[in-house]
Amino acid sequence: MTGLLEKKKRILDDISASASFEETEEKRIKYLSKKGEITLLFEQIKTVLPENRKEFGQVLNRLRNQALELINEMKSKYSEVKSEKIDLTLPGRNTSAGRYHPLNMIKDDLKKIFNKMGFSVASGPEVETEYYIFDALNMPSWHPARKVTDSLYVEKDKLLRTETSSVQIRTMEKGKPPFRIIAPGRAYRNEKENATHTAMFSQCEGLYVNKGVSFAELKGTLKEFFRTLYGKDTIIRFRPHYFPFTEPSAEVDVSCFKCKGKGCPLCKMSGWLEIGGCGMVHPIVLENVGIDSEEYTGFAFGLGIERLAMLKFGVNDIRDFFENDLRFLEQF
Ligand code: DAH
Repeated sequence: MTGLLEKKKRILDDISASASFEETEEKRIKYLSKKGEITLLFEQIKTVLPENRKEFGQVLNRLRNQALELINEMKSKYSEVKSEKIDLTLPGRNTSAGRYHPLNMIKDDLKKIFNKMGFSVASGPEVETEYYIFDALNMPSWHPARKVTDSLYVEKDKLLRTETSSVQIRTMEKGKPPFRIIAPGRAYRNEKENATHTAMFSQCEGLYVNKGVSFAELKGTLKEFFRTLYGKDTIIRFRPHYFPFTEPSAEVDVSCFKCKGKGCPLCKMSGWLEIGGCGMVHPIVLENVGIDSEEYTGFAFGLGIERLAMLKFGVNDIRDFFENDLRFLEQF
């Protein structure tokens, strides 16, 4: 019986060592065909002592079944590999080209247009302290934006920046005027999301500080920007507004580039599109970063990047920018 068990091990090992479909078939013939080694072993049953015959037969049966199973397994493994190798009729895999996200296209436009006007790109952290978001920007202590209901706090005195205006402070405290920067980046607010609001969005801050900077220069700069972005005949208008960090402050509207100011669904029949805020940097903000507000003046503005993109590309729901749905992204 030990002789038979040894044989069994040798046979199964030999089958396992087959390196191809054909070799496995050769092993099947060698062991399981009419004259195969296992088949011939069955003929030896009659020479075994009667009391051992039953056990001998059982071991032999098991050996035949195991060998057959192993052979079938190996054959199907090799035929899969084989078909993978040779099926030249399979169609090629489609790879689609990647493309720019629409928000990045607008960011690139912003950088290009403002670069031409002498603005460089600045950046700052997205997790900020209350000092850079509120205090240095002359936000009164009672301002509702400071509340957890409006802003997203990470811990006490640390919050996700609610606006990119904090980059103004970080830029000015690092050097000496003149400063001429834009700061495109993400901002976060504790917003209920809907078609025009998301908790995460992007803004582009702008700042120019020098001797004798005037509101006329602010107007000229924004006019040039919007005419390049939306077309030569775009006109802009300013409406008085309030921001703690600018005085005077204004909101900027551009004439609707779709209806040329006549009134259409895009501009809600008003002929104008609201685009951002701006103003002359408040003397207190300049003093907060150690700049003499008698000697220097400046202007600042903040533009909503999603808003610019929604208008330029005709997107109706701001959430589309963040859902990574290829059906949306492939349209740009
Ligand atoms: N920070 C303002 C906001 O998030 C936008 C803004 C308005 C930025 C006026 C400015 C500015 O720099 O001068 O609504």
